[in-house]
Amino acid sequence: MSDKAILEYGGERFEFPVIKGTEDELAIDIKTLRASTGMVTIDPGYKNTGSCESAITFLNGEQGILRYRGYSIEDLAEKADFLEVAYLLIFGELPNKEQLEKFHSDIKEESQVDEEMKKILDAFPKSAHPMGVLSSMTSALVAFNPSCVDVASESAMYNSIVRILAKFPVLVAWTLRKKKGLPLDYGDDALGYVENVHKMMFKRPNKEYTKDQIAINALDKLLILHADHEQNCSTSTVRIVGSSHAGLFASLSAGISALWGPLHGGANQAVLEMLEAIEADGGDTKKYMAKAKDKDDPFRLMGFGHRVYKNFDPRAKIIKKSADEVLGNLGIEDPILDIAKGLEKEALEDKYFVDRKLYPNVDFYSGIIYRALGIPTEMFTVMFALGRLPGWIAQWREMRLRKEPIGRPRQVYIGEKHREFVPLEKR
Ligand code: SDX
Repeated sequence: MSDKAILEYGGERFEFPVIKGTEDELAIDIKTLRASTGMVTIDPGYKNTGSCESAITFLNGEQGILRYRGYSIEDLAEKADFLEVAYLLIFGELPNKEQLEKFHSDIKEESQVDEEMKKILDAFPKSAHPMGVLSSMTSALVAFNPSCVDVASESAMYNSIVRILAKFPVLVAWTLRKKKGLPLDYGDDALGYVENVHKMMFKRPNKEYTKDQIAINALDKLLILHADHEQNCSTSTVRIVGSSHAGLFASLSAGISALWGPLHGGANQAVLEMLEAIEADGGDTKKYMAKAKDKDDPFRLMGFGHRVYKNFDPRAKIIKKSADEVLGNLGIEDPILDIAKGLEKEALEDKYFVDRKLYPNVDFYSGIIYRALGIPTEMFTVMFALGRLPGWIAQWREMRLRKEPIGRPRQVYIGEKHREFVPLEKR
């Protein structure tokens, strides 16, 4: 196959290099397009546009493959823990025992959050959506960690990375506890990373915290499954904000806002609300299937469809299996799970969904587990952000280490041609 692509236009012939990735993906390198042809490309939603070359995550949407740094998501979900996966995504290799211990102890050193941050949290009404609170608090962290902004050296980058990996779970827990009217405190440095998250979220002020290993294992697996997903909407946001050298925390705050949307990470909350509406409607899944197929109805079957996966989202398969296990181990009978399974079966047999290759995605079953763990629906997307944190960090670090240029797409102007100014009295 040629390593060049030819564009013929206006009687001229232009050649562009074709690059091949390690999984044989091909891309036309159009870095010189505008200089040589005077033209740009247009691609709403970037469905056909690669923004970067990346060595972090590989997806094959047709075959339903997901790998972090070459390791399959199935292996990592089964055999690794979340902190190991975070290290792998960020630094490119699975850590050995010493590396993992040092990484964790460096993180624990930074797990305090300035008391003044509580005043910012206090200013939010209890009704505030946790994603808005988390995005604001993450951005506010910059004020208390000014050394984390201009991170040109790798050691400065490492310092800002361990700081945010330490403080973000505290902000997640504080966001939940604020909503529940619980005191804001810290976990316990003697615990594992995810165990500490669970304790910070669920510790009651007047009761001994009892370790719930089933819940901790389920949470650890869910966080791994959400950890990265190449150039999705929120990751692309983190990369483009980071490309202006705005700093890691500000880039993450922007990524949290992008993830909030119901077409993206906000879908896990929307799925549960949809399933609860179906339950309240007497389990009438057919009505919601009809709404999802009705072009005049803005309703979509939340948790279904994906920009890349035109086959099963491998994460959805793992989460569906885990939902059965977790609910079984916790002795919970949740009719919502049965409704979800019924809806999935109907959609997978329905021509509209089959023709459009719409399968359950990562968000379809995750909320059922979060709910079983006692996490409020409005916090589901916050849990997605906690899982995606190492992926966002890894992608931001890769972009900075590769010294990528500031992101600045072009456009095709379709507005007014030049016109003379008309003074107010003459309009
Ligand atoms: C995530 O990108 C990532 O990697 C994201 C993510 C990650 O880990 O970062 O995987 C996480 O965001 C998962 C997706 C969560 N969102 C949802 O579950 C919301 C419901 N799904 C959709 O809105 C939609 O499927 C998207 C947004 C996920 C993908 O949209 P696309 O790729 O832009 O596809 P499209 O909107 O052009 O849809 C193609 C067709 C359309 O019908 P036609 O115009 O061809 O007749 O499929 C239809 C759409 O109307 N369609 C749906 C549908 N999803 C697509 N119809 C009903 N219900 C749906 N859910």
